[in-house]
Amino acid sequence: MIAHELEALAESGKKVLATNDLGGWTKPAPSLYPHQWNWDSCFIAIGLSRYDFDRACRELESLLRGQWANGLVPQIIFNPAGKGYFPGPDVWQSERSPDAPRGIETSGITQPPVLATAALAIWRNAPQGRKQDALNFLKRMYPHLFRYHQFFYDLRNPDGDGLIVVVHPWESGTDNSPRYLEAGNRVHLAYTPHYNRLDTQHVSAANRPTDKDYDLFVYLLELMREDNWDQKAYLKHAPLQVQDVLFNSVLCRANLDLAAIAEQVGEDPAQPRAWYQATKSAVNARCWDQSDGMYFDYDRVAGELIKIDTVSGLNTLYGGVATEERARRLTEIHLLNPRLFWPAAGYPVPTTALSSSWFNPENYWLGPVWVGINWMLARGLTSYSRLDLAAILSTRTLDLVSRGGFREYFNPYTGAGYGTDNFSWAAALTIDLVAEIGDSV
Ligand code: SER
Repeated sequence: MIAHELEALAESGKKVLATNDLGGWTKPAPSLYPHQWNWDSCFIAIGLSRYDFDRACRELESLLRGQWANGLVPQIIFNPAGKGYFPGPDVWQSERSPDAPRGIETSGITQPPVLATAALAIWRNAPQGRKQDALNFLKRMYPHLFRYHQFFYDLRNPDGDGLIVVVHPWESGTDNSPRYLEAGNRVHLAYTPHYNRLDTQHVSAANRPTDKDYDLFVYLLELMREDNWDQKAYLKHAPLQVQDVLFNSVLCRANLDLAAIAEQVGEDPAQPRAWYQATKSAVNARCWDQSDGMYFDYDRVAGELIKIDTVSGLNTLYGGVATEERARRLTEIHLLNPRLFWPAAGYPVPTTALSSSWFNPENYWLGPVWVGINWMLARGLTSYSRLDLAAILSTRTLDLVSRGGFREYFNPYTGAGYGTDNFSWAAALTIDLVAEIGDSV
């Protein structure tokens, strides 16, 4: 694409964000997702930071309205006017926990912690005349970010080594990724929950998780709710505990960014750096499979690796987790392999390897390409000095959006878009990718 086409694409992205803007925060999609989501808002803030400093700050500050006393930043902050989404606040009942904020309804789990990364991006992208305001923003954010990260190391660190555990597929952000379906197959559902899902009223069922997947999602929600969202009590018997490589990599990146923020605001960066080192070492010790040359999630309940090739293992590059040698194997053997993650004709990067028996090019996290995942991988490749590949991946991602629209996910063979249209994070990260290309020329 040439410069004015890229510019036009970014302008269309801004229109999507304006359409989904509900004042101080942005919904991920017009009707499928009518509330505020944690990592969506972070990606949205990164896009906004390229052209509207104040609005970007508000996006993250509004997310913190939902922070719990134990530090958790929830997956969803409910919009009282938001209709058509299941499960709503009546199902979550977050008020059962003394830690939940009062006067605002949220879900009881978190999501991949992109927050510190988004805050740092706002500071980095602030216009020259707003640098002092950006510093003040970081100062306001820092204690909240620190408490959020502390939450993981205090309450989701069951082995004490910094390998953080995810207890619900929705928490992972990659809901029906085969990693979670495989771990979920080992969960015994003591009963079948009763509910009416609403997502398939917005999007074709062929592109969404199955009813069986939803049974697992709702069952686990109800089980944790039984413990009144008490993290310690729940972890003692949680039937799904995944030490998720993508989640831990996102946290590693966020710890590095939190350390950079600490330096800017005159706080001690030692703790975030130590967290980064601990998590990085733990992922390398527990999740690397030497014969496959790949990182896999660890199922803590089953006591074994979930050996399914997904893009999550590759995103250890984003987290600065992979050693140089392992990064080379990931890139050469997996990423660039046309039978795995780089289709000979089509679009990189499928979220599940093309050769996997789980692979489905049309269904949510079973295979389609997601802009946010490609964005992370491009950043990872850059930090491992593969600027050539990062540039190709960014360009291919922008091609995909320019042909298919701001869709939620895309068929890696055909580029067909699925899920919601006007998807905020696709718009926001398109804006960021275009700006990055502009910065590099
Ligand atoms: N992605 C989930 C959904 O589809 C929520 O985080 O509803």
